[in-house]
Amino acid sequence: MSDSPHAEYIAAGTRAAIRSIARGDREEFTRLARESVEFHRPWLFLPTTDDAFDGYIGQLERPDREGFLVCDRETGAVTGFVNVNNIVRGRFQSGYLGYGAFVLSAGRGYMAEGLGLVLRHAFGPLGLHRLEANIQPDNAASTGLVKRHGFRLEGFSPEYLFIDGAWRDHQRWAITREMLDEPA
Ligand SMILES: CC(C)(COP(=O)(O)OP(=O)(O)OC[C@H]1O[C@@H](n2cnc3c(N)ncnc32)[C@H](O)[C@@H]1OP(=O)(O)O)[C@@H](O)C(=O)NCCC(=O)NCCS
Repeated sequence: MSDSPHAEYIAAGTRAAIRSIARGDREEFTRLARESVEFHRPWLFLPTTDDAFDGYIGQLERPDREGFLVCDRETGAVTGFVNVNNIVRGRFQSGYLGYGAFVLSAGRGYMAEGLGLVLRHAFGPLGLHRLEANIQPDNAASTGLVKRHGFRLEGFSPEYLFIDGAWRDHQRWAITREMLDEPA
């Protein structure tokens, strides 16, 4: 992709592109995270300091995780992120998604396109078969995003994840490789 501002793009769409997150992203990522604190509450808590980012990226460098940044294809500006966490190989080939937009680029379609690029990369080169997103029932924006990509609601788990000081109920939305190109 020699004509792009970021030769390291893994995949590019019309407006969005994805690349792996790296330690060099610390300054931009923590600045965007600080700007987005109110927007992300109460669903998402990102590292806003250098020390917290170093811990975060250390987790993403584990072999069972993949961290992607969603960028503006033309400028390279970071607009959001999608992480694939807790990848289990063998007969499962499955992982758990975490994602968020940054406030100034939210609602402009970057995440819809970026998540689609991550799904294709995960079900292609990464060899995964299934991805799950755990979403609190009141999180309409997140539910809308996965529905648009054809995820199906597999179940409801009471007191599933510890977020914002309490164990929160979550819906479990998932997609398998076979579902990727099915009409939603
Ligand atoms: C969820 C989130 C990533 C969506 O990002 P976004 O920038 O709005 O995504 P896009 O602009 O690409 O929109 C994608 C689709 O999401 C859905 N969506 C977005 N906002 C929505 C809302 N308020 N209500 C319902 N659906 C919504 C729509 O289907 C939208 O498609 P559209 O173009 O037809 O409107 C963003 O709202 C966010 O970061 N939220 C806070 C963090 C969070 O909740 N993370 C996930 C935890 S499970």
